[in-house]
Amino acid sequence: MSNHDLAIVILAAGKGTRLKSSRAKVLHRAGGRTLVEQVVRSCAPLKARETVVVVGHQAEQVAAVVEPFGAVAALQQPQNGTGQAMQVARRPLGRARSALVLPGDAPLVRPETLKALIAAHQNGNAAATILTAVLADPAGYGRILRKSETAVSAIVEESQLTDEQREINEINSAIYCFTLEKLWPALSQVKPNNKHRELYLTDAIGVMASKGETVLAQVASDPREVLGCNTRAELAEADRVFRERKRDALMDAGVTIQLPETVLIDPDVTAGEDTVIEPGVQLLGKTKIGARCTIRTGSVLNDAILGDDVTVEPHCVVEQSRLDDRVIIGPFARLRPNNHLKADSRIGNFVELKKSTIGEGTKAMHLSYLGDTKIGSKSNIGAGTITCNYDGFHKYPTTIGNKVFIGSDSALVAPVRIGDGAYIAAGSTITEHVPADGLGIARGRQVNKPGWAAKKRRELAATEKTKKSSGHRSKKRPRRAARNRKHR
Ligand code: UD1
Ligand code: MG
Repeated sequence: MSNHDLAIVILAAGKGTRLKSSRAKVLHRAGGRTLVEQVVRSCAPLKARETVVVVGHQAEQVAAVVEPFGAVAALQQPQNGTGQAMQVARRPLGRARSALVLPGDAPLVRPETLKALIAAHQNGNAAATILTAVLADPAGYGRILRKSETAVSAIVEESQLTDEQREINEINSAIYCFTLEKLWPALSQVKPNNKHRELYLTDAIGVMASKGETVLAQVASDPREVLGCNTRAELAEADRVFRERKRDALMDAGVTIQLPETVLIDPDVTAGEDTVIEPGVQLLGKTKIGARCTIRTGSVLNDAILGDDVTVEPHCVVEQSRLDDRVIIGPFARLRPNNHLKADSRIGNFVELKKSTIGEGTKAMHLSYLGDTKIGSKSNIGAGTITCNYDGFHKYPTTIGNKVFIGSDSALVAPVRIGDGAYIAAGSTITEHVPADGLGIARGRQVNKPGWAAKKRRELAATEKTKKSSGHRSKKRPRRAARNRKHR
């Protein structure tokens, strides 16, 4: 059997009642991807001639996930069991001679395990080969009945187990390799003899074995790979395993991760050698981090691109932004989408950026909002500077040149341009362009009144004194209304 003869069938039509969700089970996520995408990706290295995904619940959404990978969706409507789902796949399977069948809810299986299963099937010249696992707690899974060391006689579903069979801890992963000319006749004999009135693919195993066909079992070396995600708890467990795999891969690539179990990293994230990731960090989406960066505790980076030697201080949020070499941000910086921080620039605490370019070596260290703003190099943005980019109707740009100094608590009312080398006096509300090397100052002029405070204090003291001497009696005297009440 060459891969040219092998097709893949992923059963993904079920609702997933046990999840108690309006979303189809295989569209739930583990390890940053939907379950069905994880399964499709595990199969990709097998280079099968065809991948058929049986869809039913939320068929269009499931098809939209798998079709970009070259899979074909086949509709099962209604969903009458895994055996019927397999029948739905028959026509699109075309001329494939054998099929690797997987459930769409067991996302952790690795390509190497699938390759070994296919090899065992080929070498054993089997009609069916089942990937099994030995679990300490087999509850919920179909159990494997063996007739000898190597051969299987049947699979019994959890709901149909006898007390004796319940003790069996070898389970069916629902991942199988079938020789299709042996499967179809067996499947046609399967009856819906269960309380759900469904056709079980597992029953085809019993039929094949009873006909004397070779049915083999291959035990997975890592039982965690076959975990089925039928409940929220199982989903959480699958997610945990994926996240752990991702962190291990990054650590193998030279990244330090402190308290790794507290760090959440999406599958497409990359990071360079000697980068340090502190506890409680989330690296999401297509985030790419260079070498020797430090991502400090509590920071969340989503689709961020970082050069080398970048420092993200604690508790920063970065979305869809680019930080070039040696940039330092935070603590507590918020970068909304579409910022470009050029080399050696610094963004400090409680600074919010949106759609802004910060030039090389430029600093905005404290309490600012910079939106739709382009700043040149080596400028200094004082504490509390706000770009007023929105007039309630439209957004407008602010342009700040090189070596500009913006004094603290300035409001730059966009659209406005500040030329190279210009100064803005602290506390200004700037509404007009400021020419290069000029000073923009726009605030009320200060007036000092000498002795004013001392005089005020003297006046206050005098009023207090008069009150005390004249107000003694009147204070003790009850008010008329109160007196009247007393005598009622
Ligand atoms: C199934 C196996 C069980 C095995 C377990 C491993 C059967 C009858 N039982 O049980 O032996 O131990 O997987 O995880 O096969 N699906 C369809 N159409 C349907 C019904 C299901 O496409 O009509 C799909 C589901 O979307 C799911 C997969 O088949 O991805 C398995 O179905 P599920 O209901 O999860 O079966 P389990 O009870 O887990
Ligand atoms: Mg399942």
